[in-house]
Amino acid sequence: MRILSGIQPSGEPHLGNYFGAMRQHVELMAKGEAIYFLADYHSMTSIRDAGERRRYTRELALDYLALGLDPERAILYRQSDLPEVCELAWILTTVTPMGLLERAHSFKDKVAQGLAVNHGLFAYPVLMAADILIYNADIVPVGQDQKQHLEMTRDIAGAFNHAYGREVFKLPDPMILEHVAVVPGTDGRKMSKSYGNTIRMFAPQGEIKKAVMGIVTDSTPVDQPKDVSASLFQLWALFATESERAALFARAKAGGLGYGEVKKDLLARITAHFAPLRERRAQWEQRGHDVEDVLRDGARRAREIARPVLEAARDAAGLGAAKAGA
Ligand code: ADP
Ligand code: TRP
Repeated sequence: MRILSGIQPSGEPHLGNYFGAMRQHVELMAKGEAIYFLADYHSMTSIRDAGERRRYTRELALDYLALGLDPERAILYRQSDLPEVCELAWILTTVTPMGLLERAHSFKDKVAQGLAVNHGLFAYPVLMAADILIYNADIVPVGQDQKQHLEMTRDIAGAFNHAYGREVFKLPDPMILEHVAVVPGTDGRKMSKSYGNTIRMFAPQGEIKKAVMGIVTDSTPVDQPKDVSASLFQLWALFATESERAALFARAKAGGLGYGEVKKDLLARITAHFAPLRERRAQWEQRGHDVEDVLRDGARRAREIARPVLEAARDAAGLGAAKAGA
């Protein structure tokens, strides 16, 4: 089973990215041949600063390694080290109906927000389809927000196979990571870097403390019952066992539990949870070259899988010289 997923290096990962995607990617490594990439081409639709892109890309690689991604088992690579994917994206754009892209929620949302949209943002799902199809991936673990993109990938694969009368591409199965609810941010909305309500997992301790202490709560007095659906409790529960959760939630509902106590405990839990990962991250950071070596080796292994698929697509479409005997 081949598992593939990518994350854009467009900011420093937060608890939402950790619980919603990255931790699960690392766990899935045990289930098959896992390929994860740092989607720097995708980040071009929103970031225009070369230095920033390089920094975020490197940081994201360090984050994955810190979380325990084992480069001997899984492939970790930087998307732009395989420009072949852009060729496949072009090939796929020519079989992608405009109407399909016009229906994309993420594009429509950006237009509705009044952002200055570019063609890259419009064509984003085609590049994403190329990322997936170039490996004939079986399973693509992503959050709920990416579900439509995966449906489009299946449509695009089918359109190519149909247009050229060959089953070049496998239709991948989405694996929607639904068992993790949306992680709330410090202000109660979904945690997202675009809302500035994040807790960054590898931020300096002082910043984490400030974010945790700043989690928005209401003015219910200590002795009164608390609403456990509030962000503070939901965030806390991510770091607790089932029985700890039941016990604390019972105390909250009964009254007598103050928000301050929960915040302090949450901070202690976040600190303890990430301490060993920070340690591992620092070790990788000290061995600066090793990270590049991991990415280079990842790209080499990824290319071995991708190249024949791209060749099959080129051949089916009549690109390049005909194969001998054809
Ligand atoms: P952001 O919303 O901060 O821009 P991204 O869109 O880059 O985050 O998300 C990267 C991955 O992390 C996606 O797979 C997404 O589903 C997951 N993710 C992001 N925020 C959350 C959240 N608050 N809860 C659960 N998963 C999340
Ligand atoms: N679009 C995904 C996101 O924003 C990132 C991504 C790009 C991806 N290409 C992919 C995810 C291929 C899975 C497979 O989170």
